[in-house]
Amino acid sequence: PAIDAMVAALPKVSLHCHLIGSVAPGTVLDLARKHGVQLGRSAEELYEHGSYEDLGEFLRVLDVVGSLIRDPDDFARVTYESLTAGGAAHGVLHREVHLSPPGHPGVPYPTILEGVLAGARDAEADTGIQARFLVGICRERSGAAAVELVEQVVAHRVDEVLGIGLDYAEVNGPPGRFVEAYRLAARSGLRRTAHSESGPPDHVRVLLDELGCSRVDHGYHVVDDPELTARCVEERVPFTCTPVSSDIGRYSGSGDGSHRRIAEMVDAGLLVTIDSDDPPMFGTDPTHDHRVLAHALGWRRDRLADLTRNAVEACWLDDTDKAALL
Ligand code: ADE
Ligand code: ZN
Repeated sequence: PAIDAMVAALPKVSLHCHLIGSVAPGTVLDLARKHGVQLGRSAEELYEHGSYEDLGEFLRVLDVVGSLIRDPDDFARVTYESLTAGGAAHGVLHREVHLSPPGHPGVPYPTILEGVLAGARDAEADTGIQARFLVGICRERSGAAAVELVEQVVAHRVDEVLGIGLDYAEVNGPPGRFVEAYRLAARSGLRRTAHSESGPPDHVRVLLDELGCSRVDHGYHVVDDPELTARCVEERVPFTCTPVSSDIGRYSGSGDGSHRRIAEMVDAGLLVTIDSDDPPMFGTDPTHDHRVLAHALGWRRDRLADLTRNAVEACWLDDTDKAALL
């Protein structure tokens, strides 16, 4: 249909895409060979065509991929590919990439930084895409480990790292555990976001009131609480939704997939943005996520363009740079 071509051409701002979840199967294979690691399966088999038993199984595959990205060249390569073939080729003008240092055991944070900044520089030179970064805390670890990670980010402060996030399994890491790390980030002038995908509306409340988040990743259960929903509408709290990766009810806890919830969020007047989370790992890309949502909800071009305007508002650039985006 005609809308498919329009969706592909739609300018996009990408706020919910993980670097480790962005590695193409061929690159996983190359990195395994380079580092002498036996995968025991083809890279395609590793990704299970996007259907994992549960979030835990998905995160174990993520760990395998993360452990293969080791030196600055590796980080530069996966960043470059994510931003060019995985981003600019889909109309992405600006991406705020989620990094997960705990997903690369033994790799010092400055090594990660060196590689991703080099990859982003090359991607911008070749395609014009602009990249910034946020550093994700692993919520399955301790509050003290999170503080140490934020200390690293502060000690190696660069303009391209705008803030912090919080991911991995929500059932193993309630947001309240990370208040101290988020306070340190706030004092250091870092922006804050956090995942809340399967958790109750109360988690969203903790994100806003105790962690000082200026946006929420997923946040599907906000609509279970009308009062909280009204507040988020009023305060224009952005929600970065990912239709394909969250489609399976067992991830979002929504039972009948994420589309209905995303539609409810939009209808409630919430500020919703759309992205791909972990594109090749869920067999998707930014165009596909927008297309899936458009088809599921019967949306036309005008509503899709609203999503991009929302993402411009929700992004962490300053107002001058936002105005220059579109
Ligand atoms: N890290 C990468 N993708 C994630 C997801 N969908 N949920 C939690 N942590 C993640
Ligand atoms: Zn995510």
